[in-house]
Amino acid sequence: MKPAQRVSQIQPSATFAISAKAKALRQQGKHVISFGVGEPDFRTPHHVNQMAVQAIRRGQTRYTVVGGIDELKDAVLLEIETGYGLEFSRENVLVSCGGKHALFNLFLALLDPGDEVIIPSPYWVSYPDMVRLAGATPVFVPCSESTGFKMEPAGLQRAISPKTRMLIINSPSNPTGAHYRRHELEALAEVLRAHDGIALVSDDIYYRILFDGEEWVNFAMLGEDLRERTFIVNGVSKTYAMTGWRIGYLVGDAEVVKAANKIQGQSTSNPCSMAQWAAVAALRGDQGCVTHMVSVFEERRHYVLQRLNDIPGVTCAVPAGAFYVFPNVSAFYGSRVGGRTIDGSAGLADYLLETVHLAVVPGNAFGEDRCIRLSYALSMQDLEEGFDRLASALKALQPA
Ligand SMILES: Cc1ncc(COP(=O)(O)O)c(C=O)c1O
Repeated sequence: MKPAQRVSQIQPSATFAISAKAKALRQQGKHVISFGVGEPDFRTPHHVNQMAVQAIRRGQTRYTVVGGIDELKDAVLLEIETGYGLEFSRENVLVSCGGKHALFNLFLALLDPGDEVIIPSPYWVSYPDMVRLAGATPVFVPCSESTGFKMEPAGLQRAISPKTRMLIINSPSNPTGAHYRRHELEALAEVLRAHDGIALVSDDIYYRILFDGEEWVNFAMLGEDLRERTFIVNGVSKTYAMTGWRIGYLVGDAEVVKAANKIQGQSTSNPCSMAQWAAVAALRGDQGCVTHMVSVFEERRHYVLQRLNDIPGVTCAVPAGAFYVFPNVSAFYGSRVGGRTIDGSAGLADYLLETVHLAVVPGNAFGEDRCIRLSYALSMQDLEEGFDRLASALKALQPA
């Protein structure tokens, strides 16, 4: 049977595709090191797990209200108050099955066919396809390595048209780790203030994973006029190593949140009840686990950048947050090895997986074919081994 047309407009998630290839090799007994993972390698904190167990014991295993239990909404409100210095109320919060689901609900709630959505590129793989599924059109603003992969006001200005309905900013970014500083956001805000019909989506899923004492700031924090049209998307997946629990949230304009809630009510209903209770424990509990994880990521980032700098032909912008690096490996394109020509990031990723059993995500999935994405959410031992493999595989490449 033929699937609906909308399916032909989207691609399978590249990160999941690379994980599947790595898994197939592992099943053949190969020792694959994966730099492809998009989730912390830490365990969910004990007190969070315990809360879920208690919820089951208490019988909190039934439907909850669609948009999340009040206890979790209040924990989210407290998080936004302490982390962002912003006050909202329950009607501004929707809890969904992960940040991804919160974004999807938001796009369906806000976008109409013909609308344009500005997406700085490189971008997280799912934005363009989610926008397309909502019937709207992604408009990409290429951001170069020389600006740390951050969009500048001139690029934003050029992308705006009468059809622009939304801008998505993801800071710190997946895949680059780039974080917009206050003055950079202010400069973009100056352009946006002349276009008050543009909704601002701030995907803050990595907001606690910031290094070097960088200040956390987003559009909503720059003034009431911007806060009114900013939609904050966040969740517990990355901050608390809870990717499997599927809890994320949307905070913003009450009317749009209500519309997104309506969509959720006719699709998934509430997110998993005990996962909601676990998220309450994560947000309200001891934050030592987050501090620890961030300091470990910071140490690893230092190591990873050193190893990349030691490979001739590779350049890499220094990420300010998240747990990815996005090195430029285009110097190796056109190389011939073992009868094949490396023709771009996908070819290089295949070569690395097949020859040294190292999984990386090709940059073309994020809109930048010159780069590959490496996650450092893995043990130091695996990182060392992985970089030995990367260095030797790249050394073997002969220029065309
Ligand atoms: C930029 C970005 N936004 C949102 C998400 C969604 O995370 P989740 O649905 O697990 O909350 C991810 C996950 O990889 C991400 O990288």
